[in-house]
Amino acid sequence: MYQAAESRYDDMTYNRCGRSGVKLPAVSLGLWHNFGGVDAFETARAIALRAFDLGITHVDLANNYGPPPGSAEENFGKILRHDLAAYRDELIISSKAGYTMWDGPYGDWGSRKYLLSSLDQSLARMGLDYVDIFYSHRPDPETPLEETMSALASAVQQGKALYVGISNYPADLARQACQLLRGLGTPCLIHQPRYSMFDRWVEGGLLDVLDEEGVGCITFSPLAQGLLTDRYLNGIPKDSRVAKPHGFLSENQLDEPTLTKIRQLNQIAQERGQTLAQMALAWILKDPRVTTVLIGASSVSQLEQNLGCLENRHFNEAELSNLTAILAG
Ligand SMILES: NC(=O)c1ccc[n+]([C@@H]2O[C@H](COP(=O)([O-])OP(=O)(O)OC[C@H]3O[C@@H](n4cnc5c(N)ncnc54)[C@H](OP(=O)(O)O)[C@@H]3O)[C@@H](O)[C@H]2O)c1
Repeated sequence: MYQAAESRYDDMTYNRCGRSGVKLPAVSLGLWHNFGGVDAFETARAIALRAFDLGITHVDLANNYGPPPGSAEENFGKILRHDLAAYRDELIISSKAGYTMWDGPYGDWGSRKYLLSSLDQSLARMGLDYVDIFYSHRPDPETPLEETMSALASAVQQGKALYVGISNYPADLARQACQLLRGLGTPCLIHQPRYSMFDRWVEGGLLDVLDEEGVGCITFSPLAQGLLTDRYLNGIPKDSRVAKPHGFLSENQLDEPTLTKIRQLNQIAQERGQTLAQMALAWILKDPRVTTVLIGASSVSQLEQNLGCLENRHFNEAELSNLTAILAG
């Protein structure tokens, strides 16, 4: 019988999410990979429980996480029932709809029809009455933004979500979405964009918009799916995301210029007394507009190592200019 560690709130930092009442752990756990039907359930369970023991109160899911799609929610539902049921009120659980989930015109994108039926399915898979955050997973160029945002607001009015968020919205659409949601009485809690040393698009306006709108920011793939770690310094390990047939990271993303950058970054991390993964996470968390970094992990030891990022989040001017030069190279 799982009993949560009494020390679970001792070392984690909790950051306020935008101008809301909610605080999120500086590091959150995502279940996109490693929690599907193709993965070892006991490893997934060990990662989720260790995360909770270390103060990670936020778990991020989506309807389509697996593979197969839906299996990550089913597996997390099992963990909830068997281990975490007593701790439901200590958890912020999110789900999303926006990518292809089922056949036909109603299982994708951003219609009211898709979002609300998908949310019902997610709740059933996880065995929950409500999720804490429900997201529009991506903007839909063919559905009026008003329809997608009003579907999110309905999820809250129906008691099936406590808060709403948006993911992958560019700055201008994010601003419109935030304004619509505020008008509907369900302010946008959070935006979930990709952000890492290797993908800095959010610095071109989105972070400013979120700051002005009072919306939190949870950055996904902060380790560039594992590139910003020591995982690929000496080739492609058999159990890595690149090697797995269902992994979303492909070998051609590991070209020589990228590997050169990874080696140079690794050198700076070592000089700072950190692993590359820890430095990559600390580098994102140095920006106060970022509420939390949303990591993935395929083992408990990766998770534990990554949390070490909280021990040194300060960068001096020389380090910052070295990093900028490497990343621009
Ligand atoms: N909203 C969206 O559209 C969207 C899109 C993508 C992701 N997300 C969310 O963001 C979460 C995180 O995404 P992500 O998994 O791509 O994040 P990530 O943290 O950039 O990458 C995680 C992967 O990096 C490797 N890794 C992690 N720590 C390591 C360490 N210390 N040493 C060596 N390798 C390490 C592992 O891969 P190995 O398998 O090689 O060990 C791990 O699975 C997802 O679970 C999901 O919740 C959202």
